[in-house]
Amino acid sequence: MNAPLNGPVPVIAIDGPTASGKGTIAQRVATALGFHYLDSGALYRLTALAALRARVPADDAVRVASVAATLPVAFPDGRIELAGEDVGAAIRAESISEAASIVAAHPPVRDALLERQRAFRQPPGLVSDGRDMGSVVFPDAILKVFLTARAETRAERRYKQLMEKGLPASLPTILHDLRMRDARDSGRAVAPLQAGAPEAVLDSDDLTIEQVVATVLDRYSTAVRFQASGRSAGAGGSMLQD
Ligand code: DC
Repeated sequence: MNAPLNGPVPVIAIDGPTASGKGTIAQRVATALGFHYLDSGALYRLTALAALRARVPADDAVRVASVAATLPVAFPDGRIELAGEDVGAAIRAESISEAASIVAAHPPVRDALLERQRAFRQPPGLVSDGRDMGSVVFPDAILKVFLTARAETRAERRYKQLMEKGLPASLPTILHDLRMRDARDSGRAVAPLQAGAPEAVLDSDDLTIEQVVATVLDRYSTAVRFQASGRSAGAGGSMLQD
């Protein structure tokens, strides 16, 4: 399954709510295709962590945006570094999840991170995951997927992950927090989480990781074939959307 021969560098945009498995799926799809991978949520998490360390309150949109604009991040060999320090684990803390959701609602913060995200679009292709990959950052993505699952399923997955790591966890608390974050990410004025076209939706409730990856790869090869045959995105009710 190859990238399209001509045209812009292909992007597969995978959006979805918190704990929908976007990261795992996007990384596996990227590996299967030999594409680059962008975890856009990590940039919001890094912004939240850097703001916290600089004692900038998460609700101060202007100052958080200036933190975002000058974020000293690097992703060497898949690691996530802030000013040279490996912060891969620190940005996954629940407190940072909460703060990231607050900073992500500020339009100046989103603007400050926009070009940084687009810079990841490099040959032979990119798989990116987040909330607004298909709607704002890469509106011309060749394939847009909205990966979702019921809140209860997502909370159970997160609960199992924490238990496996030996971390304390309460299922009712996780479910409550996840619903709060869903509401904030979907209800904000700018770049809210949205499903886009109905055919973008991929419900992973009853699917294994392998089945979800296979479905995304299948949709991608269909999209490439559509593009190669010169048919428009809307024609034939494909999963391509603008
Ligand atoms: O995907 P994640 O849980 O790592 O994202 C962390 C927060 O950042 C989450 O509250 C939603 C926000 N986010 C966003 O607003 N836009 C994105 N493209 C990615 C994440």
